[in-house]
Amino acid sequence: MGLLKKSAAGRIVFMSSVFAFTNNLSLKKLNFDREKPNCFDRQFVYGNSKLSMIMAADTFAEKLKGTGVTVNSVHPGLVKTPIFTKTYAVYQNVFFQMFIWLSQCVFGRDPWEGSQGLVHAAVSRELKNETGKFFGDYAPRRKPLKAYNKQLCKDIWNASEIYVGLTPEERL
Ligand SMILES: *[C@@H]1O[C@H](CO)[C@@H](O)[C@H](O)[C@H]1NC(C)=O
Ligand SMILES: *[C@@H]1O[C@H](CO)[C@@H](O)[C@H](O)[C@H]1NC(C)=O
Ligand SMILES: *[C@@H]1O[C@H](CO)[C@@H](O)[C@H](O)[C@H]1NC(C)=O
Repeated sequence: MGLLKKSAAGRIVFMSSVFAFTNNLSLKKLNFDREKPNCFDRQFVYGNSKLSMIMAADTFAEKLKGTGVTVNSVHPGLVKTPIFTKTYAVYQNVFFQMFIWLSQCVFGRDPWEGSQGLVHAAVSRELKNETGKFFGDYAPRRKPLKAYNKQLCKDIWNASEIYVGLTPEERL
């Protein structure tokens, strides 16, 4: 943090996903894989983690207002990567997985194209003053509803500080 603040116009960019919209994030079960170690629901875990990226970006943005450091999140769109074929299935529902895979083949962009939004958020001069936004295809987009719930964002930030084990001095 110290280094970012000292550097002129430091930027933090969180890589999120359109799957942030498929979430069931709640404070009650932030670590539900702990409760069911072998069968946590990957479908929601992925969406929840991607929504958490947006919430983290927004909370960082709020806490760093006026320091010259900006914080945004980005979704790359549907990208043709081997995420659905070469990795452990993200989605347990076979039909849903087929649907995503087909959409990826038809509508997906290649990884180079997918990376451009992230690069844009990191270096574009136009975005110098933009902070706390969720970008997709180079423009700010609506976020999943829960990202607008300030109390939930605060509570998840607090819980995360505890999970990560930050000391009081390390907190923002
Ligand atoms: C989210 O969905 C999963 C899978 O259906 C379920 O196990 C979990 O309890 C849900 N979490 C909440 C907070 O409802
Ligand atoms: C950013 O804000 C500064 C100070 O208010 C302003 O001078 C500058 O034109 C803004 N840049 C952009 C790209 O909006
Ligand atoms: C932060 O989280 C802890 C553990 O979940 C809870 O006991 C505490 O009340 C929370 N603090 C605030 C300010 O929300």
